[in-house]
Parts: sequence; structure tokens; C-alpha cells
Amino acid sequence: MTKVLGVASSLREGATSTATLSVALDFAKKHGGQTRILDLRQTRLPLYDPNEGQSGTELQKAEEDVVWADAFILATPDYHGSMSGTMKNFLDYFWSEFAGKTFGYICASHEKGLTVMDQMRTAVKQCYGWSLPYGVSVNGEDDLENGMIANQRVNSRLEMLARDLVVYGNLLRQQFVTDLDSGLGNTFAARYRK
Ligand SMILES: Cc1cc2nc3c(=O)[nH]c(=O)nc-3n(C[C@H](O)[C@H](O)[C@H](O)COP(=O)(O)O)c2cc1C
Repeated sequence: MTKVLGVASSLREGATSTATLSVALDFAKKHGGQTRILDLRQTRLPLYDPNEGQSGTELQKAEEDVVWADAFILATPDYHGSMSGTMKNFLDYFWSEFAGKTFGYICASHEKGLTVMDQMRTAVKQCYGWSLPYGVSVNGEDDLENGMIANQRVNSRLEMLARDLVVYGNLLRQQFVTDLDSGLGNTFAARYRK
């Protein structure tokens, strides 16, 4: 069963991106995934500092969730065509934990958020994670009513994202783990072998 971690990165109460993420996680469950949410509004991580050995219960929770996951849905608001600082800060903490895992993207934007999702995709690629080749953009004013998705096309795209993440996330993860366990040297996974 694919373990899917949803990461919410808006600090706004009643955030569109977080509400949309919850719907996507429900769809992931419907398609056989096991889900968790890491809401960075609740779990406030300190600003990443490479000089310090950082610790704390929040960071510990985030670490546990990230290690647990086979696949991720990253949800962010569009801030100046990029991801929220909160999301970037979260991504800065991890690297090898993302390798061989699959990522899907949700962006709350008035402008489709394509550059936003590209930038998250770039960060994930730098960490040797896989990305679904599409994401879901949601416009809070047009697509939501009382915190629920009111646009059927967005709803259907969210289900597709969740289903694809459960299926492809599992395939890629299983192959990565098999490659890790094998003695083969010249594979993508070989460099992560302990
Ligand atoms: C600092 C800041 C920058 C923003 N920049 C953009 C932007 O470049 N393009 C856009 O469409 N919306 C922009 N917005 C609007 C938010 O993306 C939009 O309100 C979004 O729905 C908020 O998502 P949330 O409800 O998940 O927090 C910006 C909002 C803030 C606070």
C-alpha cells in the first residue's frame, strides 16, 4: 500500500491549498493509499540553519513523516510565482529522504501556478525525487465553496493526481527498494545504499 504524505504549507487560516490537499488525500485513500498530513501551520519548523544541529518535536515529527512516506503531495499557495517560504524551508531540511520517492503538486493561485509547480519540481529533482508530469491548480474564489471543491473539473483532476500518485508512487518505490537490496552497482539506487 502506497504511503502518501500530504504537506500543507500555507499559514493562512482556512487556506485553499490545505483544503484542496485534504480532498486529494481522501482520493488517495479511496485508491488504496495510506495517508498522513503534515500541516506546517500546525507543525512550525524553525528556519533551516546549516550551522546548527537542529532539533525539537516539530522537526522530529516532520522527519518521521518524511521517512514514513513513499510518495508526497506538496500543496502551496502561489507567492510571487513561487512556492511559499514555508514550503521551501521544509524542502531545505531533506535530501536523501526524497530520493526514489514520487511527488505530486497542488497550487492555490489566481494564475494557474505553473511556475510555482515547476519550482517545486526543480527542488525535488535536485533531491533525486520523481515528479508526476502534471499538477493541480486551484483558484480559491472560483473553485471552492465553504471550503469544499465546487468545480467538478478540479475535483476530477485531483482524483487523477491521487490515483496516479498511489499507482506510480508504489511502482517507483518498490523498484528503488529492490535496487537498493540488490548487489547491482550501476543503478540510480546504488548511491543511496548504506
Ligand atoms: C505574498 C503573496 C504573494 C502572492 N503572489 C501571487 C502571485 O504571484 N500570483 C497569484 O496568482 N496569487 C498570488 N498571491 C495570492 C495567493 O496565491 C492566493 O490568495 C492563494 O489562494 C492563497 O493560497 P492559500 O489560501 O492556500 O493560502 C499572493 C499572496 C501573497 C500573500
